[in-house]
Amino acid sequence: MTAVTAPSSPAERGQPGMRLTLKVWRQADAASPGKMVTYEANDISPDMSFLEMLDVVNEQLILSGEDPVAFDHDCREGICGSCDLMVNGYAHGPRRGTTVCQLHMREYSDGDTIYVEPWRAASFPVIKDLVVDRGALDRIVAAGGFISVPTGSPQDANALPVPKDDADRAMDAAACIGCGACVAACPNASASLFTGAKLTHLGSLPQGQPERYRRALAMLDQMDAEGFGSCTNIGECSAACPKEIPMDVISQMNADVRKASRSRR
Ligand code: SF4
Ligand code: FES
Repeated sequence: MTAVTAPSSPAERGQPGMRLTLKVWRQADAASPGKMVTYEANDISPDMSFLEMLDVVNEQLILSGEDPVAFDHDCREGICGSCDLMVNGYAHGPRRGTTVCQLHMREYSDGDTIYVEPWRAASFPVIKDLVVDRGALDRIVAAGGFISVPTGSPQDANALPVPKDDADRAMDAAACIGCGACVAACPNASASLFTGAKLTHLGSLPQGQPERYRRALAMLDQMDAEGFGSCTNIGECSAACPKEIPMDVISQMNADVRKASRSRR
């Protein structure tokens, strides 16, 4: 197996690296006031990811005895939904359909100033620096984002035929990685795109039908209880979404909720 190594620095390759100025949000904990702090990032390779660039800054901070900048990350492959940074005011940075862990420093030029902030939403309180608590999204899923099935032996793979269009729609909606960029980008801090994606995923499949309308009401109620705003069709959510979830999942959510509400009367 080939070992994966971090890109060598430009200095190690005898090339000049980029020099950047970072303005980074620092906040000790949820109760403390935060502020922007300026750092210099030197010898940055265009091949580094944005998070690798922050690693370089943190190594320097640690060597000089300072507290490194806290930020969320895990897979660094665009699949886990852990990374969550506002870069120059854009959720996940300027590239469409790209998580900030897959954003590369070649997007920037030598001498640039880059602002790095946490997701801004009342339902996502800051834990430290750039790390926010996105447990509210987990609680929306816990309210109904599942199907109830008797456990036991799995049935044969093709026992339940699913029309291709339905399978594709469910699969596209299931691409949501729960990063919360849609909330951070929305002026109303609405979680409608996230919730709509979860509802569309399960509501497009036969296994999701028995609980479909109960699920829609429960997840919408939880979304409201968490303090997320309402959708006013601005569309920033879908534009910021690294998985390019389309806004029509919100239409499906609203249609399911309307139908559920009518049957409850
Ligand atoms: S809908 Fe898109 S932006 Fe929102 S949580 Fe899912 S992947 Fe992230
Ligand atoms: S770290 Fe997993 S999606 Fe970015």
